Amino acid sequence: MDDLTDRQIAEDPQAGEDRFRILIHHTPTPLWYVDARAVGDIFMRLREEGLSDVASYLDDHPDLVELAKDIVVVTEVNRAAVSLFRAADSSELIRPVRYLFAATPDMAKRVMTAHFEGRRNYVEQAKMATLDGEVRDVIFSVTFPTPPEDLDTTFITIECITERLQTEAQLRRLQADFAHAARVSMLGELAASIAHEVKQPLAAIVTNAETSLRWLAREEPNLAKVGELTTRIAASAQRANDIIQRVRSMMAKHEPQHLALDLAEVIDEALHFVRHDLEAQRITLLRADAGVLPAVVGDRVQLQQVVVNLLVNSIQAIGNADAPERRIELRVDADGGDAVTLSVRDSGPGIAEENLHQVFDGFFTTKDTGMGIGLAICQSIVAEHGGQILAANHPDGGAMFRVALPVAGQPQSGD
Ligand SMILES: Nc1ncnc2c1ncn2[C@@H]1O[C@H](COP(=O)(O)OP(=O)(O)O)[C@@H](O)[C@H]1O
Ligand SMILES: [Mg+2]
Repeated sequence: MDDLTDRQIAEDPQAGEDRFRILIHHTPTPLWYVDARAVGDIFMRLREEGLSDVASYLDDHPDLVELAKDIVVVTEVNRAAVSLFRAADSSELIRPVRYLFAATPDMAKRVMTAHFEGRRNYVEQAKMATLDGEVRDVIFSVTFPTPPEDLDTTFITIECITERLQTEAQLRRLQADFAHAARVSMLGELAASIAHEVKQPLAAIVTNAETSLRWLAREEPNLAKVGELTTRIAASAQRANDIIQRVRSMMAKHEPQHLALDLAEVIDEALHFVRHDLEAQRITLLRADAGVLPAVVGDRVQLQQVVVNLLVNSIQAIGNADAPERRIELRVDADGGDAVTLSVRDSGPGIAEENLHQVFDGFFTTKDTGMGIGLAICQSIVAEHGGQILAANHPDGGAMFRVALPVAGQPQSGD
């Protein structure tokens, strides 16, 4: 049968049909032939009675959905379907479609709505249970017959994506581990700056406590003064505590979160990590944020990490080049409503033209003590957030990095 020629098929259409069936039977995609005419008849009557909002109708008549699961029947399945459901043979799957909806009962309603509305296809990511009870993640696709085609057969394909989802989850974990490792090394680079940040409030606490003691040691202790100093001590302790908390959340290994975030706020927090370095290097930071910005979705700590990395690079570029002009410009903008962009421009020497295409490569560095993972990790974090990062040189000199993140609620490309 496999070696029927086209001519033979032309002479004998039945042979063509057989060959087609053999092909379908061996195709690697699990496939179901379904006879949904019984429901088609009911739909026709409902339409004649003037029904248009079938979704609400099915909400009010769950019994019709249940009935459909019993009167719509599978008429044929291929080998891949048998093996996906771990059936002994096809006869176990040739029965009413109820079993296809066992793990996602609600989907039947959505499939019926699509059918009633005369749609050509319906696709949903769903769960399905094999005959021995294992639940799998699948893409469930239904193709409805439309006139003037053969009105008898609805096709269902079910593609198992459990492994793909597992691989994706594994990759996400790996990315998070990588980001974490890079954060720890970034904090290493910032150790002196962080130590200095903590030292300031601690020094203030010591001075204020000593002054308090002196006021108390007087013949007539000045309690009002002591009260005022104690308030300052508490505020300084709080400040030191905040710094330690920020460092701790940077150090911590955590599952990346997907929260609605204000990027301007993320930047404020990131700035705490580099403030001392900016001051020590006498670098002026200019900040320009465009009004109220829409939220982006992501992981607060990872996005802080991106900002800190970019700022550290700019600080190093200015410092290493001993640039006479010492300035970093930070800008946050809403980009046409579907993205929020952050641009970081510095007054350093810029990026050598021949390096522009490789600054995001892992382990690419032009610094003696550089690791070359800062920008690689920035790119991986931004990509994980559905965004984009670009490196360029500003026409007036200095490097410029631009990060664009999709606004919350946008469909992400590539999904
Ligand atoms: N603001 C900048 N100005 C000039 N060159 C930069 C800037 N940011 C990054 N680069 C270049 O990109 C390289 C890679 O940066 P990065 O991945 O952060 O690694 P590292 O900072 O450890 O070198 C740097 O070594 C430098 O050559
Ligand atoms: Mg770096």
